[in-house]
Amino acid sequence: VQAILIGGDIVNHNDSCSDTSRGRALDQSINHSREIYDRLVQIVGHKGVVTDPQRIEAMTTAWRDGWPSEPAFVVQPASTAEVQSLVSLCVSSGLSIVSQGGNTGMAGGALPRAGQRDLLLSMSRMNKIRAIDLDDDMIVADAGCILDQVREAAAEVGRLFPLSLGAQGSCTIGGNVATNAGGIHVLRYGQMRELVAGLEVVLADGRLWNGLRRLRKDNSGYDLKHLFIGSEGTLGIVTAAVLKLSAIPTQSVTTIVAVREPAHALAWLRRLRRRFAVQLTACELIEQICVSITLRRMPDLSFPILNKFPWYVLSEISTFNPSEDVETAVAEEFSEALVADEVADGATASSLKQAKNLWRLRESIADAHRMEGVSFKHDISVPISMVPKFISLTMQRLSERMPGIRSFSFGHLGDGNVHFNPLQAADEPAEKWRGRLAEVNRITHDTAIELGGSISAEHGIGQLRRSELLHYKGGLDLELMTRVKTALDPGNLLNPGKVLYEK
Ligand code: FAD
Ligand code: MLT
Ligand code: ZN
Repeated sequence: VQAILIGGDIVNHNDSCSDTSRGRALDQSINHSREIYDRLVQIVGHKGVVTDPQRIEAMTTAWRDGWPSEPAFVVQPASTAEVQSLVSLCVSSGLSIVSQGGNTGMAGGALPRAGQRDLLLSMSRMNKIRAIDLDDDMIVADAGCILDQVREAAAEVGRLFPLSLGAQGSCTIGGNVATNAGGIHVLRYGQMRELVAGLEVVLADGRLWNGLRRLRKDNSGYDLKHLFIGSEGTLGIVTAAVLKLSAIPTQSVTTIVAVREPAHALAWLRRLRRRFAVQLTACELIEQICVSITLRRMPDLSFPILNKFPWYVLSEISTFNPSEDVETAVAEEFSEALVADEVADGATASSLKQAKNLWRLRESIADAHRMEGVSFKHDISVPISMVPKFISLTMQRLSERMPGIRSFSFGHLGDGNVHFNPLQAADEPAEKWRGRLAEVNRITHDTAIELGGSISAEHGIGQLRRSELLHYKGGLDLELMTRVKTALDPGNLLNPGKVLYEK
């Protein structure tokens, strides 16, 4: 044991309290903290209490945006029973609990607040696949399992767990449940909500809600698991999940087409849906600037369309019939679209390597984007039909107020989910653009709402969009949400200050 954290300060565990000049109050606080520390060790063992400042730094640093974060303690339980004991200890010691999986969330939900008594509860040691049943066609996984681990476990028995997103090598099943994660396959398989059959959840009073059922149908009263899915750690701590599996397609064809405007991207989506129906497993919109910035940052990637076009649509069509000639069918659609002047160029990956390169490019956009000066990140959704209008109207409104602002949009066209992430004007000092997020948010979110959309499609509210939620949700929505929160967590133990404002 090297150190313990007290209100964010790291105090050497062997220091004598009386040597410090911080006074009696701090002495008492330190004694109290040491008592709690000892009890934490009793519950999770020395291995389960994290004191290494470097590890804590990694767990309190967001993937992209900087939020000040200072946990009072950091623990890594190894079992559901340990999570229950930790909850009881937190209740009696006045600590709050911030659950964390892979810390890849984009809304700051997994970060303990600064200057508060937040215990960071990392699920990373709860990482066992509990069971796979091929008749039920389900996998039961601890909440701390990495998404890739679950996908691989399913693949080993010839099945598919279809959730797929850029962070799948680090994000966890618990985090996916808590954020109702989306990604590139939602248009075919749904968001996490559609993939969960059952959950095991530790409640705010330490009791275990065992909803770990493997049922495809269950109408016996309210479907409580859905309360926890998408609740971002504010209603319960997810300790395990039963997940639905699917068949692995025998053939997947990846195609990219260039289009001159988002309306043509929509026309291409319509064609693909009409021709391939449920075989269409991904359909992503990518603006030219996303490609050029990602290629500049990641030189090992390549792009098959040599001429530049303003927009691209990257799609995947998956089938179960290995002899089906998908490529010819795509080429037929492409020729028709060419005649209709809806597409300008295109390419189909002719090898797995080429397909992987294209999907890696798509999944690397977020990473490239965060290195690119001041930018404004959004996760809006609108009805699919409104995507072109949303992009053009919002850019027009932003440009009027902020000349030079650069459009940077990509995302899940097939779900109407656009990561509308404009960049500051090129060659202008960053200082001119910092601090303008609220203004950009207002215009962007107003437009999304005006078109019947939402301010968050898949990343959630966390602390990033709390004030936006307050601004846009009607009084009754907020009232009902607050009543659910109060019913399940009356003491506001779980992730306070996230999603909803505290009363
Ligand atoms: P964390 O970041 O650790 O936590 C997220 C939230 O869940 C927090 O509020 C936390 O308190 C809560 N939480 C975590 N574990 C538990 C638990 N066991 N019980 C209760 N609450 C818990 N998201 C998408 O939806 N689609 C994408 O396409 C996508 N692409 C991404 C690409 C990149 C490069 C990155 C970095 C992120 C991406 N994300 C995407 C966001 C992120 O990966 C997802 O939100 C993911 O579900 C978060 O999982 P996590 O384990 O990292 O959760
Ligand atoms: C994506 O679709 O790549 C992710 O949601 C990440 C992002 O929004 O940047
Ligand atoms: Zn996304």
